Order: sequence, then structure tokens, then C-alpha cells
Amino acid sequence: MPQRMPPIGVIAEQSLFVPAARRLAERYALARLSRPPSSGYFLSLGGEGLELRMAGEGGHGPVRVDFAAGAMAHRRRFGGGRGQALARAVGLKPGYNPRVWDATAGLGRDGFVLASLGCQVTLCERSAVVAALLDDGLQRAALDPELASWVETRLSLVNQDAREALAKLGQEQRPDVVYLDPMYPPGKAHVLVKKEMRALQQLLGADTDSAPLLEIALASARRRVVVKRPQRAGPLTARPPTAAVTSKKTRYDLYVTV
Ligand SMILES: C[S@@+](CC[C@H](N)C(=O)[O-])C[C@H]1O[C@@H](n2cnc3c(N)ncnc32)[C@H](O)[C@@H]1O
Repeated sequence: MPQRMPPIGVIAEQSLFVPAARRLAERYALARLSRPPSSGYFLSLGGEGLELRMAGEGGHGPVRVDFAAGAMAHRRRFGGGRGQALARAVGLKPGYNPRVWDATAGLGRDGFVLASLGCQVTLCERSAVVAALLDDGLQRAALDPELASWVETRLSLVNQDAREALAKLGQEQRPDVVYLDPMYPPGKAHVLVKKEMRALQQLLGADTDSAPLLEIALASARRRVVVKRPQRAGPLTARPPTAAVTSKKTRYDLYVTV
């Protein structure tokens, strides 16, 4: 996988955060910065957690992973629970919560929703910057009184290309479901993207290797692969899905593997 982003560094907003910034930099091979760069992206660790920021004017606001508040808390409370399209696509049934590999974890929102509904979820993200944001979000979620009882037991994070990580799984580690939500090419009229996804698109570019990822996912999933698509887009590849579950803006293509 060619590295598409320039090296990104991390700063500590106050001296209090220096040890934690150092640990993140070591774990995710990020540069340590003593001050923000004059241009481009950087990570900033402070009282609100780890934030992806853009230096200079005209950039978007900070992006961080916050599972406990804002849109994620709203989605957890009012997103439709086990009846929502994502849950039906993944195959949750009364008394049955599949083990899921979210192979394109991104900011972890879909994976987190599935974990909140009872699934064991492995979040796999190949970008070190995005994985660092996820790691920070998970650590803060584990301290939240409403989430602490299940976050650490249901969610784990792998910072690796899912094509390699899935191919290495032993027979007994194979998940029931592999979930894929690769980045769409930017600028497509049918795709409305929020601030966070725009930032990820700028940072990472489109995911152009989704076809081999789908094939590896199909070989790994015991029951099904689920691919999230914009409502009016075609399937991910020429391989036709077995079925689809649709919601207002999104379609989940199912590839049954049993
Ligand atoms: C559109 S975002 C996923 C958003 C996510 N579903 C959410 O709810 O926040 C796609 C992410 O998948 C990651 N990705 C794409 N291909 C990958 C691969 N082969 N292995 C691991 N991560 C991958 C990208 O780096 C990007 O962060």
C-alpha cells in the first residue's frame, strides 16, 4: 500500500500532555513536534483529547473521535437500536450478536454502533493518524460512566492493512462478518460528506484497493461481508451482492459466504 500522506506530527498543548503525546508518537510512529507546523495537518493532544488539525487559514475545524457525546451519543440513543439498517445488514438477531471485523474502521462510528448493540468488534485501520485518533477516542470512552462497562471488552483496535491482517487470521479467529466502508472518490455528486469525512478524504485520498480487500474479506468471513455504499452508487466491484438492506441515504450490500 503506497503511503499517500505526508508525515504528520503530534504536539502536546500543555506540558501536562507531553508524556501521553510521546506514547502516542511512539506507538503510531508519528513525529514529535514542539509547535504547530506552518501548513498541513498535525495532531494536537490536549484537554479535549487528540485532535487532527489543519494549520493556517481556510482549513476545516478539528476532527476527533468522541464516542461519548455529540452525534455518536445521539445515534446510540435514537439511531433505531437493533432494528436499524446497519444492524439488520450485519445480521443481529434476538440472542445473536455476530463477531465483526470492521476492516475500514475510519473514525469508528459504524463499528462503535455495532459494539453498543452487543457485537464484539475489531476496528482495523491502516492509517496511523486515524488509528491514533481512534485509540484516543477508545481510551476516553473507557472512562465514560455510560460506556465503561463494555467498551474495553467489546472493542479492539488493529493498526494494519486489513488485507494483511485478515489473511493472517487463524481458522478459529475468523469473524462472522467483515464490514467494509471504503472511502468514495471525492467530488461525486451523489455523495454528501460531513466535515470529518472530508478531512479524511483530504488526508488519505480515495481507497483504490477495495476490490482485493473484498476478495480477502469474502475468504475470511464465516457468514457474510457487508459493504456500505451510497444509496445510488453501483456495487463495489463487478461481483454482484447476494442482497441489500437500504436506509434513506445508504445501501448495505450483503455477500453471503455460508
Ligand atoms: C470511509 S472511512 C470509514 C468510516 C467508518 N465506517 C466510520 O463509521 O467512521 C474508510 C477508512 O478505511 C480505511 N481503510 C481503507 N482500506 C483499508 C484497508 N485495506 N485496511 C485498513 N483500513 C483501510 C481508510 O484509511 C479510512 O480511514
